Amino acid sequence: MERYLKHCWYMAAWANEIGENGLTREILGRPMYFYRLESGKLNAIVDRCPHRFAPLSCGTRKGDNLVCGYHGLTFAPDGHCVHNPFSDKIPVGANITTFAVEKRDEIVWMWGGKPEEADPSLIPPFPFVPDAPNWRTVTGYTLMQANYEYGTDNLMDLSHIEFVHKGTFAGDGVIFAGKHEVIQEGDTLHSNWWMPNIPPPSMAQGRVAEDAIVDHWFDMQWYAPATMRLFVGACPHGEPREAGFAVPFAHILTPANDHETHYFWSSSRDHDTDSPEVDGFLKQLFGEAFDKEDKPIIEAAYKNVRGKDFWQEKPLSLGIDQGGTRARRMLETLIKREQVQDA
Ligand code: FES
Ligand SMILES: [Fe+2]
Repeated sequence: MERYLKHCWYMAAWANEIGENGLTREILGRPMYFYRLESGKLNAIVDRCPHRFAPLSCGTRKGDNLVCGYHGLTFAPDGHCVHNPFSDKIPVGANITTFAVEKRDEIVWMWGGKPEEADPSLIPPFPFVPDAPNWRTVTGYTLMQANYEYGTDNLMDLSHIEFVHKGTFAGDGVIFAGKHEVIQEGDTLHSNWWMPNIPPPSMAQGRVAEDAIVDHWFDMQWYAPATMRLFVGACPHGEPREAGFAVPFAHILTPANDHETHYFWSSSRDHDTDSPEVDGFLKQLFGEAFDKEDKPIIEAAYKNVRGKDFWQEKPLSLGIDQGGTRARRMLETLIKREQVQDA
């Protein structure tokens, strides 16, 4: 069983995924139930009754309390059992673990440790996700049959674009002519590609003249354990970046368990913001890229090493994989630091 970083926020869902009946999703190896209290506040509870393990999400509500649909034990939002239909006594141990949740930037975040230790100031910033006047974001989700760190490897090393994304965003080899650097800033990492003096990439179409020469960049920022922000931009060659434009993306990975990962992504834009056709086009393009290009190769690679220790398999280093490697090392350090603190 993998040990997960606890003192951090995990993306549990896009806020609009949590409807009237709540949402069930496995996170960090636990079945979780996310639902709204009568006040509208979000609550997160392990979706497993301590009696015969029925999911509470299959039961009913009594005000803010959850009534188990199997034999009627009733639980308050803080996980305490408050009613036993068979006795006036509440059985010892009839409590369910709960987790702190916060909604920010249209994202529902779950704190990996004890609720009383949750620190909302550590939520990674995604201010570009919510829609605003002249600003539109499409979002997506897929479940990957691979450990989440293999997803981090993929995202922190965008050189794979030239091989994996031939059907979508491969760029005629421009990435090979670029410069890659990985920079640490506190507990975050930047894995940046700089590709100067090239013809406009496809994402610059309509923004620069077809015969223009541009400088192009991919800036990927990693927050532990596997939350990433990507800025893809281009500007006229030799001019400051501000003379061009950049498009922000969310790439957020949350372990469902040791072998499965929730992959949340978003793409934002400042043009055609009222166009359902452009929404549909982008959803299809990125859905295709992440579901049909990244996911199969990551899953197939993971299948080859499932259950094995990554480092003991002696992965080759090509330099371009430095971002993923450093993210793995930093995460190990952070988890060890927690172990020492908890000891
Ligand atoms: S399984 Fe929930 S009360 Fe029996
Ligand atoms: Fe990819």
